[in-house]
Order: sequence, then C-alpha cells, then structure tokens
Amino acid sequence: MSSSTAIINIATLVTNDPSLGDGSPLGLIQDAALVIDGERVVWAGESSRAPATDNRLDAGGKAVLPGFVDSHSHLVFAGDRTAEFNARMSGRAYSAGGIRTTVAATRAASDAELEANLARHLAEALRQGTTTMETKSGYGLTVEDESRALRLAAAHTDEVTYLGAHIVAPELAEDPAAYVALVTGEMLDACAPHARWIDVFCEKGAFDGDQARAILTAGRAKGLHPRIHANQLSYGPGVQLAVELDAASADHCTHLTDADVDALASGDTVATLLPGAEFSTRAEWPNARRLLDAGATVALSTDCNPGSSYTSSVPFCVALAVRDMGMTPDEAVWAATAGGAAALRRTDVGRLTPGSRADLVLLDAPSHVHLAYRPGVPLVEGVWRAGVRVA
Ligand code: NIG
Ligand code: FE
Repeated sequence: MSSSTAIINIATLVTNDPSLGDGSPLGLIQDAALVIDGERVVWAGESSRAPATDNRLDAGGKAVLPGFVDSHSHLVFAGDRTAEFNARMSGRAYSAGGIRTTVAATRAASDAELEANLARHLAEALRQGTTTMETKSGYGLTVEDESRALRLAAAHTDEVTYLGAHIVAPELAEDPAAYVALVTGEMLDACAPHARWIDVFCEKGAFDGDQARAILTAGRAKGLHPRIHANQLSYGPGVQLAVELDAASADHCTHLTDADVDALASGDTVATLLPGAEFSTRAEWPNARRLLDAGATVALSTDCNPGSSYTSSVPFCVALAVRDMGMTPDEAVWAATAGGAAALRRTDVGRLTPGSRADLVLLDAPSHVHLAYRPGVPLVEGVWRAGVRVA
C-alpha cells in the first residue's frame, strides 16, 4: 500500500501545467504544496489548501520543479577525448571524424566496463536532477557492437536510440552504400528489439539527406520512431527531413535557414538545442530566440558524449541557453523539463500535475531562475524519481 506525502512550504513550484498557478507555461505556484502518493503526483496547489496526508515534508522555502528530461545523450562509450578537446581549445576545429577514436575504444571494452561507465554517467546526471535520460548507441558500428550497446542501455533506461548511422564504420569507409545496407538490414534487425528510437547523424562527413531518409524509413518499418542529428556543423537537409518524417525531434539546429525555422514551427517535431556541444567545440550558438519567436517547440539537452559535449549537467545547459541563446530563464527551464518530454513524446514526465510521475527536484534556492542566475553552483539539493528520494 502506498502512503501520501505532502511537500509543503515550497517557495516556487514549477508545475508546467498552465491551468495551475499563474497561468504561464510554467504553471508557477508561490507558497505551494505538492502531494505525492506512491509514484504519482496527486495534488498541487497553494500550501494553505493542501489536503491531509500520511506524511509531511517541509521544503524550507525552496523551489521544486519537475526532474529534468534529458532527451539526447551518448553514454555507451569507453575512453575519453581529452587530447582532442585540448587541441580544439588551442584552435583546431571539431569534425565528425573524432567519433572514430571513441569507436575504437568502445569496441575494445568489455561489457562490464561499458556498463559501469554508463551507470556512472547516469548516476552523475541523476545527482544533478535528471530523472529521465535518453541514450544512444553509435560507437560500435558493427552488428555485435551496436546491439550490445543497446542491450546495455535498455537495462538502465527506457529511452534507447539506435544510432548505427553515427558515421560510416571505418572498415567500410570506402563503401558507404554497403554500410547503409548493413544499418538498414542485419544491424537494424539485431538492434530494433532493444530500442524505441532510430537516429541518424545527417551531416557532411556522416550521412546525406537521401541516406538519412532511407535509414529512418527502414527503422520506422521495424517499429522505431525517428529523431535526427540535424544542422549541427553546417546547413543541410536534416531539419526539413525530420519534419517530413514527423521525427519526434531535430537535434542541434545550429545552422538554420528561414525555411528550416518555418518547418519546425509548423510541424510536431521539437527543436532540441544542445549548448554543451557549442560550448565544447567553441562554435556559434543556436538561436533559440528565433525558434521560439517563430512558434517552434524547443527542448534543451546535454548531448553528453566524450567528444563534442562532455557534460551531464542540464543546469549548465540552462545557464548557457539563457546567457547566450536568447532564452528567458522560464523558457529554458520549460525546455529542459516539458520540452525534453515533448522531444520524447512523453506526457507522464516533465510536469508536476495530478497523474504525472513524481519525478522532482528540490533546489537550494527560492526559485528556478537561480539555475541561470547562479551558474556552476550545485543547487540541486534533492531528487525524487517515481516518488522515491534517489539523491
Ligand atoms: O551529437 N554529432 C554527432 N554526434 C555527437 C558527437 C559525437 C562525438 O564527437 O563523439 C554529437 O555532437
Ligand atoms: Fe549527439
């Protein structure tokens, strides 16, 4: 039997339910209480009106918000790329080719090493408030190595993405068509049972628009839903392909034409921005303001991977998005919670409203705005997942 708990004395509660609180997208309630029962939220409102419960927990005048939904990471890997980062910070440019270094290290690693690395990064993210985390394959690039990556990932998260099409496997570099045939054939058959999503890195040096369409269409025929690495390093067809295929998300969106922005604004594909990648590759920021003003739905995620963005911190990404991408603190917090949920087509997470999963973060601060106002400060004081305090 579950028991109910009221978290009272919350200075600012972010519900992401506009019908609650102040009517804004964040559904803010001041001087709030939140009641959870088992793994669900059952009530949210003003503290003075909280119903009777079995237990009470005093939030001490701090802020509570939904756990972060990080809809884009690459956590099944071995090795690191410190030397490449160092070279980049000395002026070298980032290119998709660095992925090969991690492919070699990942292939050479044992299952136990890969799983320990994955679990360590998920735990690191959880301590920073991430209660839902998508993760991908993409550093194996053989039938065995890709399916092993997905099997390991599926043991730790429900949001698993097959990214056999990260780059052309080095041993088939001279025959990309043969690699696409493998990714859409034998590799897909071995991987589909372990994944919910299929992704392609649509970029110069990786896969072009026609290859991406073929790969995503083949995945869809096996029951996987598309998402795309699009328009990260250059302009290209990825974003419009994403909208055409009703991908849940087009990720990166750094180089966009007006037609790309219009496509995102008119379709159901979320624009997922990954500022850790621009930070770590010293690249031009994606323009979140332009997307939001056009009416696109924006998510913010870490892209945690050893090459282009080795951070698991959503709060860090929120701070970057506010400082450098034209987002308000409210928009960035929405994007990192409800936006991430939209990018995973989930309605049970990313909000704190009756019926949603009790995934929440208690901040050592009176409001969510402090995530951007106090960058780099470890403000996450408590984390609950499915009603259980986990950090
Ligand atoms: O999302 N863009 C492609 N994939 C990763 C980078 C992977 C790597 O450099 O290892 C990304 O940035
Ligand atoms: Fe990525």
